[in-house]
Amino acid sequence: MLNVIIFGPPGSGKGTQGIKIAEKYGLAHVSTGDLLRKEIETNTHFGTIVKGFIDRGELVPDATIIGILDSFLDKLPVGKGIIFDGFPRTVDQAKSLSEMMSTHKTEISILVDLNVDKQELVDRICKRGETSGRTDDKPETVTKRLEVYENQTKPAVEYYKQRNLYTAINGNGTVDDIFARLCEAIDTVK
Ligand code: C5P
Ligand code: MG
Repeated sequence: MLNVIIFGPPGSGKGTQGIKIAEKYGLAHVSTGDLLRKEIETNTHFGTIVKGFIDRGELVPDATIIGILDSFLDKLPVGKGIIFDGFPRTVDQAKSLSEMMSTHKTEISILVDLNVDKQELVDRICKRGETSGRTDDKPETVTKRLEVYENQTKPAVEYYKQRNLYTAINGNGTVDDIFARLCEAIDTVK
C-alpha cells in the first residue's frame, strides 16, 4: 500500500496535486474539506454543525473530524492506497491517523509538504474565490486560515520528521513542475 499525506497551507495546491497523484498511482483521494462541504451541501445535521467553523476559517474539533474520517475509511474499498488531502490538521489528528492506519493493517508511507510563498497563497485563494463559491475563500477568512495553519497545523510536521516520513517540496511554479517534484519524492517510497 502507498499512503501519502499531501500537506501545506491553504492555497498550496493540495487538492489540485492530490487529484493528479491519485490518478497516476491509482490511489483513493480523500479530501476531508470536500467531505465536510458535502455534509453542508446536503444539509445533514452534521453539516449545520460544521458550517460555522468553516465559514470562520477555524478547524472543526478533532473528535468530530476524526470520527468522520474513521467512518469514511471503514467504508472505503481496499485499494492500492490513499492520498490524504487536508488531514491531519493538528498533532492529535496525526496521532489518530497512525492509529487508524494500523487498524487497517497499513501505515503512512510519506508526507509531502508543499512550501509556497505567502503572497502567492493569498493570490491563489482570492483568485479561486472568484469561481469556487467557497464561503471561506474571501480575504478576511484567508488571513484567519493562514493563522490557524501556522498555529495549529504546522506543528504536526514534527510528528512526521521524527518518523522520517517528511519531505519538503517547492510548491511554487507551474502545476506540471510541482507535480514532477512530488512524483520524484513519492517514487522513492513506492
Ligand atoms: O482542506 P480544505 O482547505 O478544503 O478545508 C476547508 C476547511 O474545512 C478548513 O478551513 C476547516 O475549516 C475545515 N477542515 C477542518 N479540519 C480538517 C479539514 C478541513 O476543520 N481536517
Ligand atoms: Mg483543498
